[in-house]
Amino acid sequence: KPNIVTCTAPVNIAVVKYWGKRDEELILPINSSLSVTLHQDQLKTTTTIATSRSFQEDRIWLNGKEEDINHPRLQSCLREIRRLARKRRNDDDPSLDSTGLSQRVHICSVNNFPTAAGLASSAAGFACLVYTLARVFGVEGELSAIARQGSGSACRSMYGGFVQWIMGEKEDGKDSLAQQVEAETHWPELRILVLVASAERKPVGSTSGMQTSVKTSSLLKHRADSVVPGRMADMIEAVQKKDFAAFAELTMKDSNQFHATCLDTYPPIFYLNRVSQQIINVVHRYNRHYGETRLAYTFDAGPNAVIFMLKQHVPEFVQVVQHFFPPETNGGQFIKGLPVNSAA
Ligand code: DP6
Repeated sequence: KPNIVTCTAPVNIAVVKYWGKRDEELILPINSSLSVTLHQDQLKTTTTIATSRSFQEDRIWLNGKEEDINHPRLQSCLREIRRLARKRRNDDDPSLDSTGLSQRVHICSVNNFPTAAGLASSAAGFACLVYTLARVFGVEGELSAIARQGSGSACRSMYGGFVQWIMGEKEDGKDSLAQQVEAETHWPELRILVLVASAERKPVGSTSGMQTSVKTSSLLKHRADSVVPGRMADMIEAVQKKDFAAFAELTMKDSNQFHATCLDTYPPIFYLNRVSQQIINVVHRYNRHYGETRLAYTFDAGPNAVIFMLKQHVPEFVQVVQHFFPPETNGGQFIKGLPVNSAA
């Protein structure tokens, strides 16, 4: 009889971006980053894992299609969880053998949003994989360092609310961990709208994009050395004080610097499209109109915008979006407001 566990993990949206690795295998970043984890019921991955003595081999299905289980990052996560499980068993009761741990797994994972369109599908995906595997194998404790080895941004989806990924210094990556800055209940008025400017696959994935940036962009080095450390401190302060204007300004500046870094990469990488640029202009015009910063945009490795605002401004902004971006004229599609509170 198989043992079956199902879990979900939400997407996270970085407001201080991770871009660039110092170690490709362990996935160690060149700068710290900070994100907001979405509500569990919104954009999420759902993963079901079964173990059974009758399974001959490990297998995985993503959105209904079988994929190669030998993907190196998937193998890292499986290996690390099995290692912890074995260690735990031996610590608890040395007489126990590890037959249960050699059981094969069948993994099924589905997203409720477009994959690879810059909506952090790998973050929710690997966070969910690691969390569900841990449940299946009875492993507890710090799991963000394992999720990180699946996809860097995934380590931040292991926690709800406002989460920082501390870059760490050690070569073995033991201090490169995610940590909750504030819980999901901290800022209940904060809202997120996702504006889908395109649901197509991005031309350059983040993994290879950031590799080229590390090799060729001097702006990236400047950003990591001289900008992000101060920005992390300012962002944490803005979040703790619930200072929307400060939070919004830092978020937009960081998104812009990330995309400037992509442009500084050689050959350059373009993630924003015409609709993205129009969204940026509309946000600044809106803020200027009210004489205060009521909206912030941020874009990951794709053209879709994530807009932050306070609850009281949602209805009006929705009207603005419908006015400027009717779905039939730009192919864009307005998703919905997502309250920020969650836990993996
Ligand atoms: C622009 O975590 O997808 O979304 O570690 O190679 O899997 P890998 O990259 P990934 O990169 C995310 C980049 C980003 C910014 C962010 O989420 O911080």
